[in-house]
Amino acid sequence: MARAANDDRILRWMSDTWPEPYTVADAAWWVNEGSLAGSTWALCLKDVPQGGVGAHPQTGFQRCNVEVGWWLAPAHWGQGLVPLAARWLVEQALLNPEVTRVFAPIHAGNIPSGRVAEKIGMRLESVQPRSAIKRGTVIDRHLYALYRDPP
Ligand SMILES: CC(C)(COP(=O)(O)OP(=O)(O)OC[C@H]1O[C@@H](n2cnc3c(N)ncnc32)[C@H](O)[C@@H]1OP(=O)(O)O)[C@@H](O)C(=O)NCCC(=O)NCCS
Repeated sequence: MARAANDDRILRWMSDTWPEPYTVADAAWWVNEGSLAGSTWALCLKDVPQGGVGAHPQTGFQRCNVEVGWWLAPAHWGQGLVPLAARWLVEQALLNPEVTRVFAPIHAGNIPSGRVAEKIGMRLESVQPRSAIKRGTVIDRHLYALYRDPP
């Protein structure tokens, strides 16, 4: 897991809370604790973790929203693997009848991740200028979303 995740081609696009560098201790924490507490899964190829997907249900009056995210080791890019996993993730999120919107915040410039969002039926909902900090720099984010009952 750590070997797959600790790659700048991945780290540069993850949120600022993602460990950097991503160490074996970070992977061990995720396997033993993090993955049990939330809805996150490793993507395994021949039983070896090569990536991950996660769904984060929102709370309170925003509980009809689920945020999703994804990453994959570069050696496996371009085979449609993450769209496959992300479609399943969306299906799981919509099993909750209260959920009406599944969204993915994507850093401006991350074309491949935007393509994943489009392939699973999301559309660019809005651009959020200056809405997050990444490596000490304020960045724009693109919000992609899909809806149970499209507006
Ligand atoms: C975004 C990501 C998960 C895509 O996963 P994937 O399984 O490769 O997805 P796909 O095979 O559907 O490819 C999606 C796009 O990636 C790009 N891509 C494909 N192969 C690529 C390669 N070898 N090198 C660079 N980009 C490539 C293309 O733009 C492709 O779109 P297209 O099919 O319209 O040409 C992967 O690129 C990744 O892990 N990126 C770094 C982490 C990240 O950005 N996570 C999301 C944070 S919001």
